Amino acid sequence: MPAEAAMDVGAAVAEDTAVALNTRSLTAGQRLALKYFTVAMVLFVAQMLFGLLAGIQFLYPEFLYGVLDFNVNRMVHINAMIVWMLYGFIGSVYWLVEDEAGVELVGAKLANINFWVLTSAVAVVVVVYLVVQVGPGKQSTIWLINEGREYIEAPRWADIGIVVCMGVFFYTIAGTFMKGRWSGISGTLVLDLIALAGLYLAGMFYTTNLSVDQYWWWWVVHLWVEATWEVLVGCIMAWGLMKTLGARREIVTTWLYIEVALMFGAGILGLGHHYFWIGTPEYWLGIGGFFSALEPIPLVAMVVHAVYDAGRHGFQSSNHPALAWLIAHAFGNFLGAGVWGFIHTLPQINLYTHGTQWTASHGHLAFFGAYATIVIALIYIALQRWRGDVWMSADLPDRGWKWKWSLILLNVGMMGMTIALLIAGYEQSFIERAIGGSTWAAFFEGQTQPWFVQGMQWRMIFGVVMTAGLVLLLWDLLTIGRGETRPAKEVHDPAGPSGAIESGALSRAPV
Ligand code: HEM
Ligand code: HEM
Ligand SMILES: [Fe+2]
Repeated sequence: MPAEAAMDVGAAVAEDTAVALNTRSLTAGQRLALKYFTVAMVLFVAQMLFGLLAGIQFLYPEFLYGVLDFNVNRMVHINAMIVWMLYGFIGSVYWLVEDEAGVELVGAKLANINFWVLTSAVAVVVVVYLVVQVGPGKQSTIWLINEGREYIEAPRWADIGIVVCMGVFFYTIAGTFMKGRWSGISGTLVLDLIALAGLYLAGMFYTTNLSVDQYWWWWVVHLWVEATWEVLVGCIMAWGLMKTLGARREIVTTWLYIEVALMFGAGILGLGHHYFWIGTPEYWLGIGGFFSALEPIPLVAMVVHAVYDAGRHGFQSSNHPALAWLIAHAFGNFLGAGVWGFIHTLPQINLYTHGTQWTASHGHLAFFGAYATIVIALIYIALQRWRGDVWMSADLPDRGWKWKWSLILLNVGMMGMTIALLIAGYEQSFIERAIGGSTWAAFFEGQTQPWFVQGMQWRMIFGVVMTAGLVLLLWDLLTIGRGETRPAKEVHDPAGPSGAIESGALSRAPV
């Protein structure tokens, strides 16, 4: 073997050993977090693939008809999304819990078993979705196959399993904080997890009256994404800013309290914007319109917060990709949820836009902007530690082209898709609602107009752009920091030392 090749092999072995050693130096919670992150990314890929299939069926309705119908593709697309984001959040919380509490994870073994149980259940549910695509609407269907509630279609057996798994997750997190120390972030986080899990129960309350059923279903869907998920990512963001920028705890905690107060203040009664047309009393028009119109305020606060903190540190961060995605989160949340939500939230407007592609436009940008972004940021933070706290600031060996281009392609793809859907939605509101008066014929008329059809074509084009971005992102996640020997850049608040917790010293305690 030529000497050069022998050296290459040697270097590869040394590198592999280094990687393995780093895994061993991770805490139990961190190792668990990596598993959750891995499943999250697999499901992100599944979400994209099923989204592409559903998008193609808009253009070629006969594509896979009878084999993999649109309703199934759409269901897997959005369920994979909810589940991967939940996995991302659980992973993030396991990643930060020991660092924040200053002690080892309580119930680490149980938490591991929990991961495998939850993941097997998710796999079974998805396989059943794909295998049993049609059937009678009987109790057995609800219990074993599909509950028929958009976003939370999981059958009843899985519902109960999910509640149990969430209980175990909650026990390990709250238990760890109780054993260690509490902080503003952890207190907010634990209270929020109670609300998050509690709300899921409202989605299990099945009635045959569709209005009543929808009434409770929105408690999960709206109160999750516009209240408890927002607060959860607020906690993750606060911690993330301390890690990447060395932001001061007092500052991020103060912002967190302000944001939480505003979020719950507007988001809980903002629920009313889903009660406009489902047969609930008329007073919801006023309540829903008014409070949901206030919902963008905390989202503006979140942008100000992130940009203020980053600016204060001259954008000097220990982890550039993570900081870039945290900022993408602040803006994406504001645009997708705040601006795109606001534009159709007043009943006078929603009367025309309700359930059109306008809604899909908002749904895409809000979920991506608010939640996909922050999970990706936390994965970058985790990877840096896993690689051995290596350098991830400017001057990466590949000049960081992979993370930069994946960030660009994913965000440009999503913006393009959002705008294409918005144009299609405008057209539907005019032709189907304003001119056609919402008749059955007008519903179809709206979907044959050139602006609608072209909107669907552009959605596909930008969907492919996003998919390319995702491939690049996964490639980067697998390779970034490999073979890097420089230690991570030190960051601290210019106004003073940032305290023991922020220095990360505690997270380095061997398990
Ligand atoms: C990150 C936070 C948010 C996410 C993930 C999100 C996501 C969604 C999704 C997926 C839908 C469609 C639901 C369905 O299938 O029927 C929806 C509907 C809606 N959202 Fe949001 N949203 C968020 C925040 C907001 C905010 C802050 C506002 C108002 C300012 C808002 C206003 C609305 C309205 C009015 C509808 C009903 C649309 C219709 O009538 O068809 N959303 N949202
Ligand atoms: C390859 C990229 C993607 C394509 C082609 C795609 C396509 C689709 C299609 C065709 C639907 C059904 C729309 C309808 O029923 O009218 C849909 C729904 C949805 N997708 Fe995507 N999608 C993609 C990526 C994403 C991403 C990255 C997210 C969020 C992170 C997302 C979130 C959603 C949501 C929330 C809905 C439900 C919207 C509603 O009910 O209004 N999608 N998508
Ligand atoms: Fe809502």
